[in-house]
Amino acid sequence: MMREIIYSLPEQIREAAGSVPERLFRNRVYDNALICGMGGSGISGEIAAALYPQVRITVNKDYLVPGFVDKKTLAILVSYSGNTEETLANYGQLLRRGIDMVLISSDGKLHKKKAGRKIKVPAGLPPRGALGYLFTPLPMIMRRANLIPRDPRRELQELAAFLAGQRDRIEEMARGLAPGFAGRLIILYADSAAFVPVANRWRCQLNENAKVFAHYNVIPEMNHNEIVGLGRPEKFNPDTSVIFINDPLSHPRNRTRRRLLKSLIGNELPAIVEISPKGKNVMQHMFWAIMLGDFVSYYLALEQGVDPLPVVRIEELKRKLAGHRQKIDKR
Ligand code: F6R
Repeated sequence: MMREIIYSLPEQIREAAGSVPERLFRNRVYDNALICGMGGSGISGEIAAALYPQVRITVNKDYLVPGFVDKKTLAILVSYSGNTEETLANYGQLLRRGIDMVLISSDGKLHKKKAGRKIKVPAGLPPRGALGYLFTPLPMIMRRANLIPRDPRRELQELAAFLAGQRDRIEEMARGLAPGFAGRLIILYADSAAFVPVANRWRCQLNENAKVFAHYNVIPEMNHNEIVGLGRPEKFNPDTSVIFINDPLSHPRNRTRRRLLKSLIGNELPAIVEISPKGKNVMQHMFWAIMLGDFVSYYLALEQGVDPLPVVRIEELKRKLAGHRQKIDKR
């Protein structure tokens, strides 16, 4: 089932691109957006923030919303289940501050809230498998709120068509790559700010689908710290894979940094893989690479004999937390 879910990303995007109501807002003028959400829901906000660097978008992944948030802020709360307590805590604070909110969920408590404009996405998926439904409304909402200048619908439709044309090849590539990562520690490097959410998505999907630990960082920042510790302790090096997820539009200096880094670490960490995304714009590059990572995590799960669907520890922790009665909203 997870394979079909991953495969359905283009359809999700196509469907969701037509689902945001034309009239979402009164005449309020916004100058920034706050996108709240955790895990498989919150990553949609990270992707949106990376795609629209010209807009002030803050992604919030904690109980408290930042102090700067005011009436000029449009808040978008994303929770697939609608029951994530951090996001629900954000709702309460935003409501008290009188902030306009759009609530994206498939159901749950968030969907039953009185305030806020609601966008309902189809239920029955693991949240991380609903990325198309959760991400696509974000540019649409930001357009309706006048935060971005151009209607993104065409670009989203083109993205869906592009991915639909690429997905068999992407899947094939993932099937070839995944066995090489079995039983190994995976370190992911992005070479631009735009690709940080892509590397993060790879990490999350490797964590949740393949049930393995993975780490990510970004060039150039990691050149100033992590580069020194990379490959230490040495005993893990024979079992470590380094994956560079290359942004075709990254700064040329970052590309040079990547090449130099590779030659610096190549002797100690020889298992290096480079991913070169396809596409004609940054949105296509990002989602091409995301789809590849999703499929890699799926085939790695199969390779290692684990079921990609259940995320037992997440559920267990949520259950245990529910048993701890604490005042969540401190303010
Ligand atoms: C599960 C997953 C998780 C959830 C997260 C928040 O597939 O990806 O990271 O997304 O625990 O839950 P929701 O998305 O329901 O707000």
